[in-house]
Amino acid sequence: MSRFWKPGTEKPVLVDDEEGGVLFYSSLSSSSGYGHASIEKQRQRLPVYKYRTSILYLVENHATTVIVGETGSGKTTQIPQYLKEAGWAEGGRMIACTQPRRLAVQSVASRVSEEMGVKLGEEVGYTIRFEDITNADVTRIKFLTDGVLLREMMDDPLLSKYSVIMVDEAHERSLSTDILLGLLKKIQRRRPELRLVISSATIEAKSMASFFNNSRKRQEEELGPSKEPAILSVEGRGFNVQTFYAEEPVPDYIRAAVSTVSSIHDEEPVGDILVFLTGQDDIEAAIQMLTEDTEVTRKPGLFVLPLYSGLPRADQDLVFSPTPRGKRKVIISTNIAETSLTLEGVVYVVDCGFSKQRFYNPMTDIENLVVAPISKASARQRAGRAGRVRPGKCYRLYTEEYFLNEMSAHGIPEMQRSNLVSCVIQLKALGIDNILGFDWPASPSPEALIRALEVLYSLGVIDDDAKLTSPAGFQVAEIPLDPMISKMILASSDYGCSEEVITIAAVLSIQSIWFSVRGSQKELDEAKLRFAAAEGDHVTFLNVNKGFIESGKSSNWCHKNHVNYQAMKKVQEIRQQLRRIAQRLGIALKSCEGDTRAVRKAITAGFFANACRLEAFSHNGLYKTIRSSQEVYIHPSSVLFRVNPKWVIFHSIVSTDRQYMRNVISIDPSWLTEAAPHFYQHQQLKSRAQ
Ligand code: CDP
Ligand code: MG
Repeated sequence: MSRFWKPGTEKPVLVDDEEGGVLFYSSLSSSSGYGHASIEKQRQRLPVYKYRTSILYLVENHATTVIVGETGSGKTTQIPQYLKEAGWAEGGRMIACTQPRRLAVQSVASRVSEEMGVKLGEEVGYTIRFEDITNADVTRIKFLTDGVLLREMMDDPLLSKYSVIMVDEAHERSLSTDILLGLLKKIQRRRPELRLVISSATIEAKSMASFFNNSRKRQEEELGPSKEPAILSVEGRGFNVQTFYAEEPVPDYIRAAVSTVSSIHDEEPVGDILVFLTGQDDIEAAIQMLTEDTEVTRKPGLFVLPLYSGLPRADQDLVFSPTPRGKRKVIISTNIAETSLTLEGVVYVVDCGFSKQRFYNPMTDIENLVVAPISKASARQRAGRAGRVRPGKCYRLYTEEYFLNEMSAHGIPEMQRSNLVSCVIQLKALGIDNILGFDWPASPSPEALIRALEVLYSLGVIDDDAKLTSPAGFQVAEIPLDPMISKMILASSDYGCSEEVITIAAVLSIQSIWFSVRGSQKELDEAKLRFAAAEGDHVTFLNVNKGFIESGKSSNWCHKNHVNYQAMKKVQEIRQQLRRIAQRLGIALKSCEGDTRAVRKAITAGFFANACRLEAFSHNGLYKTIRSSQEVYIHPSSVLFRVNPKWVIFHSIVSTDRQYMRNVISIDPSWLTEAAPHFYQHQQLKSRAQ
């Protein structure tokens, strides 16, 4: 028996180390109503439950606690509840738990509210960008993306309403997680009472702990928690997973995944299959193959489900619902199922060996999303997903030789392979001026930082001293979007087209407004033609939005036009929020009534850095970026595909066999010098034009 202080109270509470916090539990069991017994049992069966007492002890006594544990051991859903039960959310304080992914935020928040028997949005809530399901008066446990927590620091730099902040999935090393970790380390010095819980995969735990090691020689009189981080490892109860490798390199991983699924289904006993592919396109292609393959479809009991971040809510629920007896689920997922979400019942994993990753090249200033090999660490995580309910099998669609000799041990933190424009402006807005000297968990390259400063300077967001300009810099920082989009919104005020530009910004912040059904590409292309604008994709979005509004926001209309109804409803919601933000910033809400020149000029004011020119005598649509002469093409999904105007601006780049520009508009090159005289000199444009 040991004695601990229950945080927030003066009363010592006895906790039995062996049994794992029985006394803390008494209050909970009395308040839990009928029907909760089984949920309670489930909670107690999770590996993390045995560590409940130790976790609470460590959090009480250490400023930072790093918790390592397998996916599914209960870290995300249980630790915030333990903290609340132990009193960390008393006296109006809150417990925050961050996730790198929006879908994970929604999913765990709804699971935890269910476990606690409360309505989502009350005691347990969540916030993701443009969606706040919390109630400031009653929410005690809040799940949120790390990006949203960074935003909250703009109003509350010390995050004073939180008593404990749990940074979950820290091993993913997402850009926002790393910025957050750097800032939390600073906050800790000002708020000794704040506690951090960092949850991470094994490989990153030590470096996380050493990053947060703030201990100097402890002075005798120094009170409060130890500044030295604690590491606790939750022993899971994962089962053995047998690994199989491809005998030879696989030329087409989608096809290989499909045939692997089919042979597992033929030869192996029941148990769900989890397939890792790279993105929505891959996933849809695989589903199409699986459902068209009559050999497979004739077999009863197989049902195939997609899992990726833009998935509608109802489809998400299907993935998490239990598999009926005797049936077999096949979940085809992006790496969201690698660590962020637990899927019960998976016995077989098929790993294609790739994921979509961001890569930024400061020399060309192009950031693109590339299908790239995963690391050994990821491959192990993926394999581990097979051993949750019983011994499992993992099928790697690459050779053992490749795994051993060519796969890198770890991934590269996103910080070191991203465009840093958003990161820099956020730090500036928080008053951190010495960006190069900032204490990062992994330092970004000086070239990338300098590029970011250069772009921000050209956007008029920072001045000669690299300080945020007033008011433009502060306004851009205030809008929760990419700085280039924010700048486009600001500029729309000058061009009298804020209503239109806000619509465009809303459309660009969701995945797609089109509804793509397998096998109906032709109908979709025809539908697109009905709205297609000669000026480009952004203006096409305006046409779709107009049609949607005129139809009375009808789902029937959406259906007929291959427009995604849920996405359009979301666009309207985001529009309303952006309009409110614009009003607060003093941007006049005004429509240009179809003057697409004004709209395109406003877009140019934000995206001038992405300007490209069609190569003279190019018959295959080759463009080069003005800044760095990179070869790019218009993506086939763009309405300007094959139209090939001379001068264009793109919103983003995706690479497959080539670098493709997505969401493209045509511009007049003179707008570039008007928008960014420092960036483009007349001379430069003229020489390019020859
Ligand atoms: O965070 P960690 O991977 O350690 O585990 P967790 O997400 O807290 O999951 C613990 C348990 O809760 C697992 O058995 C999950 O299956 C279950 N869970 C669930 O049923 N539904 C969710 N949306 C999230 C978790
Ligand atoms: Mg988790």
